[in-house]
Amino acid sequence: MSETVEVKIGGETYSFEVIEGSEGEKAFNILPLRKESKFITLDPGYGNTGSCKSSITFLDGEKGILRHRGYAIEDLAAHASFTGVAYLLLYGELPNEEEHTTFDNLIRANYALDDEIIKVIDAFPENGHPMAYLSAGLSAMSALYPYYGDESESGHDMALIQILAKIASIAAYSYRKSEGKSLIPADPSLDYASNFLHMMFGDEEEDEAFKRVRAETLDNLLIIHADHEQNCSTSTVRMVNSSNANLYTSISAGIGALWGPLHGGANQAVMEMLESIHQDGGDTERTMDRAKDKSDPFRLMGFGHRVYKTYDPRARIAKAGADAFLTKLGMNEPLIDIAMGLEKRALEDEYFVQRNLYPNVDFYTGIIYRAMKIPTNMFTALFAVGRSAGWLAHVVELKNDPDKRIGRPRQIYTGENARDYVAREDRA
Ligand code: CMC
Repeated sequence: MSETVEVKIGGETYSFEVIEGSEGEKAFNILPLRKESKFITLDPGYGNTGSCKSSITFLDGEKGILRHRGYAIEDLAAHASFTGVAYLLLYGELPNEEEHTTFDNLIRANYALDDEIIKVIDAFPENGHPMAYLSAGLSAMSALYPYYGDESESGHDMALIQILAKIASIAAYSYRKSEGKSLIPADPSLDYASNFLHMMFGDEEEDEAFKRVRAETLDNLLIIHADHEQNCSTSTVRMVNSSNANLYTSISAGIGALWGPLHGGANQAVMEMLESIHQDGGDTERTMDRAKDKSDPFRLMGFGHRVYKTYDPRARIAKAGADAFLTKLGMNEPLIDIAMGLEKRALEDEYFVQRNLYPNVDFYTGIIYRAMKIPTNMFTALFAVGRSAGWLAHVVELKNDPDKRIGRPRQIYTGENARDYVAREDRA
């Protein structure tokens, strides 16, 4: 007999089917609860609510494990390329050489930005935030390629490629625009990360070794951002797409969700925090005190995670990456010492220990971006470029999910009870 969970409400016992994932994670399906008992479950922030079954990413926050399609993030970061990981996320298996080349060539053939997208971004004032241009650019793609919003397999596949290819080009142009600089056209002879950097910095005189190491490092950073199961932006993408909204607009919504400083915007906030500590002469005490003060909304940015209750494996890769980047290029970055000092200080502090607060992915990535000469307001856009692979994989999964339903949570209403309509005299 299959396992069940019993819930007692008043004198009644309700029985629910247990669902077990391939890594032994258990859930029980509460869908019939309301129909049978009139109760719903309340879970603000969805901390203990599974919204779907998924075979893309496994994450064990207690053990610090992150795997995509069964492959450890450490192995993918060490051996794969970003487009290879995107392929893995989308299609379930690592590509062989031929598959990878075909996939890569399709992406390269679509790097170029359409005039209409350039015009949309040009319509914005200069010095806006790149995430605003990025979200608008993706949204504009829905108007430009309406036929890819259709349900045909080839249309859908082409839309995936278009988004993967153009999100980096839009991000690069967003940087140019926010700096008041003109577009640098895409170069399909370059790999994904190199083209992205070429579209950002192609008109600058740069050392060849720096360019090579920077492109390799960026590719690696895109991999560690590629997917992270049902986080805020991915759940947003799935939610929007669950109404059968088109792919471009679903991704644009994900960009909006990612922008917030509690999510992908944390990398920008970490850098601003480290810079302000640096300007204060390197004293981390004030920052620590503020982070622990419950009357101050400030938080230690780049620390803590909804799911990880130990060191985020991506933070470990980013920390080693920052070290390797600076060493390879013989660069000196004072903020890395501040970050390491702050980490050490926090990991010894009772407040952080008690709450299992460890560095997350955003704590060290900003230091690498800064050394790569990427401006702070572009950090979250880089996160979005990497995460687009995961968002797309989740949309594909949702499209094929036999349990797919429109996302529609319930609520407990706490407002006024029914009252008669009486016009207020104090209102004009
Ligand atoms: N600094 C100080 N206190 C913190 C922090 C922090 N960074 N993070 C959590 N806490 C405290 C929080 O105040 C609460 O304390 P108490 O139990 O006394 O009320 C306790 O730890 C639990 O926190 P929570 O707010 O219930 O945790 P959450 O799961 O709702 O929030 C989080 C997770 C990531 C939003 C939060 O840790 C945070 O705000 N961190 C800083 C922002 C950040 O670095 N975000 C990037 C996340 S990783 C990238 C991504 O995938 O998005």
